[in-house]
Amino acid sequence: MPDNTRRARDEAFWHTFADRYSVEPGPVNLENGYFGRMSRTVVEEYQRNIELINRSNSVHVRQRFEQGESLQIRAQLAELVGVPAETIALTRNASDGLQSLIRNYNRLTPGDQVLMCDLEYDTVKGAMRWLARNRGVEVIEIEHPHPASFDSLLATYREAFVRYPRLKLMALTHVTHRTGLVMPVLAIAAAAKELGIDVILDGAHALGQFEFNLDKLGIAFAGYNLHKWIGAPLTLGFIYIAPERLTDIDPDMGEMHFPITDIRARTPYSTPNIPALLTLPLVFEEHRAMGGSAAKGARLNYLRNRWVSAVRELPGIEVMTPDDPRLYCGITSMRFTRHADQQSMVERLLKDYNLFTVARSGAASGPCIRITPGLTTTAADIDVLSKALNELR
Ligand SMILES: Cc1ncc(COP(=O)(O)O)c(C=O)c1O
Repeated sequence: MPDNTRRARDEAFWHTFADRYSVEPGPVNLENGYFGRMSRTVVEEYQRNIELINRSNSVHVRQRFEQGESLQIRAQLAELVGVPAETIALTRNASDGLQSLIRNYNRLTPGDQVLMCDLEYDTVKGAMRWLARNRGVEVIEIEHPHPASFDSLLATYREAFVRYPRLKLMALTHVTHRTGLVMPVLAIAAAAKELGIDVILDGAHALGQFEFNLDKLGIAFAGYNLHKWIGAPLTLGFIYIAPERLTDIDPDMGEMHFPITDIRARTPYSTPNIPALLTLPLVFEEHRAMGGSAAKGARLNYLRNRWVSAVRELPGIEVMTPDDPRLYCGITSMRFTRHADQQSMVERLLKDYNLFTVARSGAASGPCIRITPGLTTTAADIDVLSKALNELR
C-alpha cells in the first residue's frame, strides 16, 4: 500500500495532526468545503504579520514588500503549483480572478457562443451571462446526465462542441461545489482544443485537495483561491495565464500599474491583505511538510469512501458522485430520495446527530446535501454520519 494510502487510515497520526488546529466546541463540522482552517502556528504567524504591518505601515510595505517579499511569495506559490512565476498573479480569491479572466478575454465577437454547464459556480455563471449582455455573445447552458461517468461527461461536451459551431470559450469547473464531481479536465480540454475552444478553469476546490499539474492540464486560463485546501488565511487567490496566451486577456479596465506584458495588469490593482500574503511562506512549508495535496487528498478520500461505502446501496439514499477514482474527491454530496426537502434533512442531521452539513441546489440532478470532511475529521465522526444517514433515510 502506498504510504499516503496507509497513513490516510492511521487515526493516531491524524489525531496528533489535528492537535495543531484549534477547534471551537460545537457540532461536528462536515462543511469544510467553505474554507479550511489555518493551523495554530499559521494563525500566530498571521497575527505577528498583522502587528508588524500595523507598526511599520507603509515604510515596510514600500521598502520591502512591494519589490521584494511580494515577488518572492509569488515565486514560492508558482513553485508550489509547478508553473513559472510570470504566469500567475495574486488575487483576493477565486471569484475575482475568474471574473477578471472572463471579463477581459478579448477574442469574442458578437454572435460567438460561450458554454457553461449546470455544475459551474454561481459567480462564474453570472460572469458568463454578463458576456452575453456586454459582448453580444450567446450563452449555451448544458446539463450533465446523472449519474455521470468519465465517458458521459466527455461525450456531453463533445456533443455540445458539434451542436454549437460558433463556440469560442467555455467555463469548466475542476471540482464542482454542488456535488463534488471531479471533471476529467485533461480530456475535456484536449477535445476543446481540437476545435479551437478556449477553457477558463475554475480550480477553487481542486488546489490542495488532490495533485495535478497545472501546466500539463492543457488549460490556458485558470483561477484559484488558497483558503480551501492549502490552509492560508482568507482573502488570497491567484490567476494563471499560459504565457503564449497573455495577449488574449486585456489589462483589467485600463489597468496601467504594470506593463502590458505583465500578467499582474490582468487583475484589479488594489491594496492587498499584506499580512495574509506574508503568512504564505509558512503555509506552503506546512502544506509540504505534511505531504502536500497527495497526503491531504488520500485522507479526505479515505473519509469520503468510509461513509459512501456504508450507505451507497441503501434504499432511500443516493450518492451524487460515482466511485470512479478519476471523478471524486473528499467533497461528495448525497440525497435522501424519500424526502423532498433536503434542507429539512440538513436540520435533522444537526439537531438529532450534531452533524453540520449544507444543502446545495443548482445541479440539474436536483438538490442535495454536501458532505465535506476536513483534516481534523475523524473516522468516528464519519461513522456517526453513516449511522445518521441510515437512520434518517
Ligand atoms: C467551485 C468554486 N468556484 C469558485 C468559488 C469561489 O471562491 P472564492 O470564495 O475564493 O471567490 C468557490 C467557493 O466556494 C467554489 O466552490
